[in-house]
Amino acid sequence: MPHIVDLRSDTVTRPTAAMRAVMAAAPVGDDVFDDDPSVHFLQDKVAELLGKESALFVPSGTMANQLAVRAHCRPGDEAVLHARSHVFNYEGGAAAALSGVTLRPIDSMDGSLGAAAVAAALHLGDDPHLAPTRLIAYENTHNGCGGVVLDPVDVDAVCALARRHGLGLHLDGARLYNAAIASGTSIAALAAPFDTVSLCLSKGLGAPVGSLLAGDRGRIAHARRWRKAMGGGMRQAGILAAAGTYALDHHVERLADDHARARRFAASIATIDGLRVDVGQVQTNLVYFDVDPASPAVRRWSADVGAMRVVLAARLRERGVWIAGTAARLRAVFHLDVDDGGLERALAALRDAVG
Ligand SMILES: Cc1ncc(COP(=O)(O)O)c(C=O)c1O
Repeated sequence: MPHIVDLRSDTVTRPTAAMRAVMAAAPVGDDVFDDDPSVHFLQDKVAELLGKESALFVPSGTMANQLAVRAHCRPGDEAVLHARSHVFNYEGGAAAALSGVTLRPIDSMDGSLGAAAVAAALHLGDDPHLAPTRLIAYENTHNGCGGVVLDPVDVDAVCALARRHGLGLHLDGARLYNAAIASGTSIAALAAPFDTVSLCLSKGLGAPVGSLLAGDRGRIAHARRWRKAMGGGMRQAGILAAAGTYALDHHVERLADDHARARRFAASIATIDGLRVDVGQVQTNLVYFDVDPASPAVRRWSADVGAMRVVLAARLRERGVWIAGTAARLRAVFHLDVDDGGLERALAALRDAVG
């Protein structure tokens, strides 16, 4: 079988030879002692890029988000966030388990929260029945809503509301650079309304490990203390930080290629009988698509739409194309390790699998 086209996630990328060379040569020290020059360099660089006072290098996006929850809230507090957000769905219940924080979700199709919905969800005042709201969290791009870029009008209105009530604001910016490239905005501008921002290096940017949490000095010092307590204190982490610095220097502009391939993929899917996709939703590197349960092309597999999705993912896998495919959803993600040849192979496999 020719090599696999792996579209499951943008986390599957492998460090390039040039990135590995930089990692091997990186000056290092003990970062728990705050001694690692490569980690310092990356933290300072990201703080500046995001327009924040300080930044902390952590092992994962999940840890960056959870340190933010911890920095903004105390046990018994509540955070308002999107119903399809990563923090709400995919962080293993960490806000409850690690910080004693309850999460109040608001749903929408585009990652927006809506100032009216947020105002209705807030617990202000001192009613002892209610968990006081301390934090509002957004995600940009919004993975669960198709990788869309947040509407700045919505963000500004909700952030203004949060400021009026003295609430904290966190942005899960795992794919903030995808949002910046897609919207022609700087990450600093997208981060400006928020107190804390997480940024992942190991997704579209192609580094093997690592995320940063940026914010004011006080919150980042607090996060540093809890990073250690949560087991995220790494020693000669400069090897990893150097990969992140390399990714920021070399892999940002090329995200536009991933976005273009994702759009081409979606446009072709729209022409395949048995499949459907909302082409307009594809703004960045994620493509959520679906089977068309009315089509005989997929009805021959099963009468159940969930089973149809699973069969399609399995048929693609037999053809060397891996996607994130479950009974609930089908997703293909474009990244550093998928070139035009990979895109064409994925489309050919899709046509063959459904045909
Ligand atoms: C939007 C978003 N936030 C946070 C994360 C968590 O990142 P990690 O897997 O590094 O914990 C992910 C992971 O895919 C994500 O998609």
